[in-house]
Amino acid sequence: MTDLAAGKKALNVEAIRKDFPILSETVNGKPLVYLDNGASAQKPVQVLDAMDRYYRQMHSNVHRGAHTLGDRATAAFEGARDTVRQFVNARSTREIIWTRGTTEAINLVANGLAGQLSEGDEILVSQMEHHANIVPWQMIAERTGAVIRPIPITPEGELDLAAFDILLGEKTRVLALTHVSNALGTINPIEKLIRKARDKGVITVIDGAQAVPHFKPDVQALGCDFYAFSGHKLFGPTGIGVLYGREELLEAMPPYQGGGEMIERVSFEKTTWNTLPYKFEAGTPAIAEAVGLGAAINYLESLDRKAVETAEQALLQHANKLVETVPGMQVIGTAANKVPVMSFKIEGLHPSDIGTLLDQQGIAIRTGHHCAMPLMDFFSVPGTARASFAFYNTLDEVEQLFAALQKIQRLFAD
Ligand code: ALA
Repeated sequence: MTDLAAGKKALNVEAIRKDFPILSETVNGKPLVYLDNGASAQKPVQVLDAMDRYYRQMHSNVHRGAHTLGDRATAAFEGARDTVRQFVNARSTREIIWTRGTTEAINLVANGLAGQLSEGDEILVSQMEHHANIVPWQMIAERTGAVIRPIPITPEGELDLAAFDILLGEKTRVLALTHVSNALGTINPIEKLIRKARDKGVITVIDGAQAVPHFKPDVQALGCDFYAFSGHKLFGPTGIGVLYGREELLEAMPPYQGGGEMIERVSFEKTTWNTLPYKFEAGTPAIAEAVGLGAAINYLESLDRKAVETAEQALLQHANKLVETVPGMQVIGTAANKVPVMSFKIEGLHPSDIGTLLDQQGIAIRTGHHCAMPLMDFFSVPGTARASFAFYNTLDEVEQLFAALQKIQRLFAD
């Protein structure tokens, strides 16, 4: 059965753009060209409507009320959890924990695993990690005496797989790895690395924040123990994220925060924990945000994901072709397998100046160290300019970016 026969719409970028109200905005008198999707993606009207409907018709607290609104809110909230479960192909909703985002998810895992780490144990992270997948491990290493071992990368911005094989040793306890590099766009061959790690009994933690906007993860096929991502990069709201965790490992971990919801019974003598996933969800959760994230996933699933990938790769290829039209432009991160992210520098220009001058043309990109300072150190740059594309971007927008870069370069060359 073709995707169309299955009721899915083929990728029609012009129609898709109409689903995203903000894309019709003007910025500095110019039509917005939004190329900062890696930092945060825009939201379709389906997400905005789902959140609005939730607040207008369903809002109450969840899992508590003996009344109809409480039931509606709980059904919407738990329904969204099941949408996430299907999206990542987890076995059970007990394995889906709501968090504030990827950062909180990784902090939760790092804290949860601390009790299993001791002096001299090794935690492998890569040189291309976002700070969110470095700093929580450093904090845990400080507490436990464990040691962080960085996996080097190649000048193209790919993982050095031979070095990984050497580093993965008897003392390795955790492999914390990004699925896709936020600053470079490199897609890491995580399936292979997870298999090698698991063969040695190493716990695997995957930062999927930059992967899920581009493709669906299948946590069972990947075989990872933990997989984290954020709602706002997945065309959903801010303030909500997901931690997938293998049930046995979540069961073995202590709670992350204490409070309401995460308990079974509280007394001054002894307090016992709620069952999964609630053991890790202290306090009133971000209910409307969970509902919004569910709507974002449903929106994505209504698209032909193969067509999305093809369209995104076409944007990247077009951008790659145009690099030579800007004198002194150099792309940082030339891995063979990339999502549509282009980090670059232009000789004689500071990245933040590039960002400011593009903004004057209505073009939004991100500049700076991208929360990946060890990676910037590797490339000996203080930062880069980064254009990150989404499926709603057009080839015309890619051309507008390069026309603006040519103009900026000429301005500074004169
Ligand atoms: N981590 C986000 C980025 O790469 C904010 O821009």
